Amino acid sequence: MDTMNAIFTRRSMRKYTDRQIDSELINLILKAGMYAPSARNLQPWMFLVITDRSILNKIPQVHPYANMIREASVGILVCADLNIQSNKSYCAEDCSASTQNILLAAHANGIGAVWLGVYPREKRIDGLRELLQLPENILPISLISLGYPNETKEDPKRYDESKIHYNVW
Ligand SMILES: Cc1cc2nc3c(=O)[nH]c(=O)nc-3n(C[C@H](O)[C@H](O)[C@H](O)COP(=O)(O)O)c2cc1C
Repeated sequence: MDTMNAIFTRRSMRKYTDRQIDSELINLILKAGMYAPSARNLQPWMFLVITDRSILNKIPQVHPYANMIREASVGILVCADLNIQSNKSYCAEDCSASTQNILLAAHANGIGAVWLGVYPREKRIDGLRELLQLPENILPISLISLGYPNETKEDPKRYDESKIHYNVW
């Protein structure tokens, strides 16, 4: 799939089949996450890959909009290491770029995924920190639910000229 096609056809997928994603494909998708741009090229991202069904099932207790992850094959928690990048705003920007790369790489390989926001919601951060035993220097930014898709979505037709300004506002 070429880049423009991947960008335009990616949609949040929240329904999945039972088919599991093999670990080589997960690693390829994570590699895409590591090729994102980052401030000062610090690459502060760290990834927690969650495959344990009992842990996936507990996530909705600490994230109010993550019910679909109980059906997912894998969850990926994209975190920042504050020992690498101490500025939390840059952590969020860098890990968001990584998250989008992961969504596009997943889609390009036939995997459906959805971005579940974590940072800056303190309750979600603290809940995930406890559930997943994150050390203090590890700040969770986003959670991604992944599986082979069991739904299809229309093109949302988002191009909107009124959002574009030229030269001065
Ligand atoms: C920062 C962020 C947080 C999001 N959090 C959630 C979430 O908690 N649960 C969810 O189902 N979708 C979540 N989404 C996905 C959005 O709902 C989705 O991207 C949006 O509706 C546009 O649809 P699309 O991804 O199909 O283009 C989040 C997306 C972003 C960028």
